Amino acid sequence: MPAMDKIAGNLFLIGLMAAGKTTIGKQLAQVLGLAFHDSDQEIVQKTGASINTIFAVEGEAGFRDREEAVIDSLSQQHSIVLATGGGAILRDNNRRYLQERGTVIYLHTSIDTILARTQFDKTRPLLQVDNPRAKLEPLYQARDPLYRSIADIIVSTEHGQVNDIIQEITAALHLKQGQL
Ligand code: S3P
Repeated sequence: MPAMDKIAGNLFLIGLMAAGKTTIGKQLAQVLGLAFHDSDQEIVQKTGASINTIFAVEGEAGFRDREEAVIDSLSQQHSIVLATGGGAILRDNNRRYLQERGTVIYLHTSIDTILARTQFDKTRPLLQVDNPRAKLEPLYQARDPLYRSIADIIVSTEHGQVNDIIQEITAALHLKQGQL
């Protein structure tokens, strides 16, 4: 879909856990003067429960229902940067909301890097397993094509400082005129 048809100024960050969606999203929003939102944080704020607790009490399906409602609502705003949870793109509706309502930026990172970054992380229920690599590999295989299917821009967050990655994103947005 041409950039002009998308809701004015919305940038949606997608990608696997620990790809840098929240860190980069916050700074990108600041640089561009846009409001920043994070779908996970929004869910936690609304429920008063952690993501771990929601998964434990309602299961992944319950979390996905909440995630879909939050993404539908946030993506209807204008001029926002939205960091989505890594699994948001699993739902057809979410892919449609994101694709239709803004410019979608896929932050790509390797499995090795995700494992290194999440080694001591206790906040991501899907990785609280004995063998996180065995969990992450099929997730990557299943999700990478879905991320790519809706991405307007793909940027690697494997190396480089946050500032450099933000510059790469803003340069790509400038190339796609009308999106800034
Ligand atoms: C998930 C990623 C998490 C969070 C939840 C499920 C996933 O968000 O939504 O733990 O399915 O990949 P981050 O991508 O911000 O870690």
